[in-house]
Amino acid sequence: MNEQIVILDFGSQYTQVIARRIRECSVYSTIVRFDTPAAELAKLAPKGIILSGGPSSVYAKDAPLPDKAIFKLGVPILGICYGVQVFAQFLGGRVEKGTKREYGKGTLTVADPACALFEGLPDKLQVWNSHGDKLTRLPKGFSVVGTTENSDYAAIEDPHRRFFGIQFHPEVAHSPRGKEVLANFVHGVCGCGKGWTMRNYVEQAVEEIRAQVGTERVILGLSGGVDSSVAAALIHKAIGDQLTCIFVNNGLLRAREAEVVQEVFGRNFKVKLQYEDATPLFLRKLKGVTDPEKKRKVIGKTFIDVFQTATKRAGKAKFLAQGTLYPDVIESVPIAGNPAAMIKSHHNVGGLPKNMKFKLVEPLRCLFKDEVRQLGLELGLPKEIVFRQPFPGPGLGVRVLGEVTKAKCDLLRAADAIVVEEMKAADLYYKTWQTFAVLLPVRSVGVQGDERTYDYTVAIRAVESQDGMTADWVRVPYDLLEKISTRITNEVRGINRVVLDLTSKPPGTIEWE
Ligand code: XMP
Repeated sequence: MNEQIVILDFGSQYTQVIARRIRECSVYSTIVRFDTPAAELAKLAPKGIILSGGPSSVYAKDAPLPDKAIFKLGVPILGICYGVQVFAQFLGGRVEKGTKREYGKGTLTVADPACALFEGLPDKLQVWNSHGDKLTRLPKGFSVVGTTENSDYAAIEDPHRRFFGIQFHPEVAHSPRGKEVLANFVHGVCGCGKGWTMRNYVEQAVEEIRAQVGTERVILGLSGGVDSSVAAALIHKAIGDQLTCIFVNNGLLRAREAEVVQEVFGRNFKVKLQYEDATPLFLRKLKGVTDPEKKRKVIGKTFIDVFQTATKRAGKAKFLAQGTLYPDVIESVPIAGNPAAMIKSHHNVGGLPKNMKFKLVEPLRCLFKDEVRQLGLELGLPKEIVFRQPFPGPGLGVRVLGEVTKAKCDLLRAADAIVVEEMKAADLYYKTWQTFAVLLPVRSVGVQGDERTYDYTVAIRAVESQDGMTADWVRVPYDLLEKISTRITNEVRGINRVVLDLTSKPPGTIEWE
């Protein structure tokens, strides 16, 4: 088993960020519910426990509280923000409503440089606070190791039991040296090594896949996206030809997408690839459909039908592989005010048809997205796939507004390819969350040479985002926009106007639909 740090989730929007920071220290971390019994935790043999922040007050009715036996496990504990209040509640301190809500940047003054958390750090640290309640009396056995402008007990320690509490958030970027505080905890206090790397994970995962699958066959729906691609490369490394990848071309892919997948997986990796060109079927089903939700439904259903038929053609297999990631697996804590609990993963098309009787192989189940990319590089996948931007399951079906036809998809593919090509040439493509073209159902008059035209309009969408839930439009340099616009109107016959989308999310969405 990997050495691990277990994070008790009290509903902070940052819980997953804590887990990622720990893993960036090459230490495995897992997130469990705040009320996981101590006996269950002990089975995980954690080297350390972190109590996350959370939106509640420990004195509130229904406040999320841990099993008090966790304090007797003999394992180091770091309480962050609400986690400090939890110490106070169980170990005899006092928490009061702060007169001033401490929110935003602050300066932590290290009061005890001998404290293991601050090893190698300066005595003043910029930190990010976000809490209303604050500690006003220390729990038994604790002493003060840091203060801020608003709090005399901003960092506390019980060196004997190796319990630490910090009121700031070390996991966020606004605490620039916070990661070192976490590193000090996991390495210095908990004694974790640096064994969690994607290089090591490849070996571990290969063994696990072989043990799970034995001599049986596995089918995987390859979309060309990061997750299914990395899963395919990893499983192929483990079981070679026992894996069959099914790639469905729905006619709604971007330029060269189908070719890249065939090149990379078929020719380079020598994966058994079953290529299903279902373009005519999808386009037939989409004929006359203009309502966005209806389009999504048609595309989703058609995909399932095609995939199901394709699996039959692929021959008997016991397992279906999926690129499920850790954030899809974590049970979110249903605490009022916890935004993470409200965030649902997007309306996904192309998931597992419910009636298909396969056992699942999910070798990315414990990984975050950035780890999956790292793993992809480790497995030798090209940058083009590993750093691919998110692309909706229904593909160009949502980016061709109104009725979807082959002619319109071709127009959009040509325009989109220019946007992508120019953004790549300007070294901006991989720095933005998504950059693409949208084909509007609008035709207008133009003039090209001596000729009057009556053609379509393309909108350019380039957005910055962390997770797709909110987004801001990217300030693409004018010169580059000019180049893109000129190229599209010159090179793509049928488009005579290019506009730029200046809408953030909210109020807009990233896709137009
Ligand atoms: P919106 O348009 O809702 O999109 O702001 C948010 C993010 O989700 C992507 N998206 C999808 N992803 N299946 C997916 O896997 C889908 O059906 C789908 N629809 C939208 C979108 O590209 C953006 O990144």
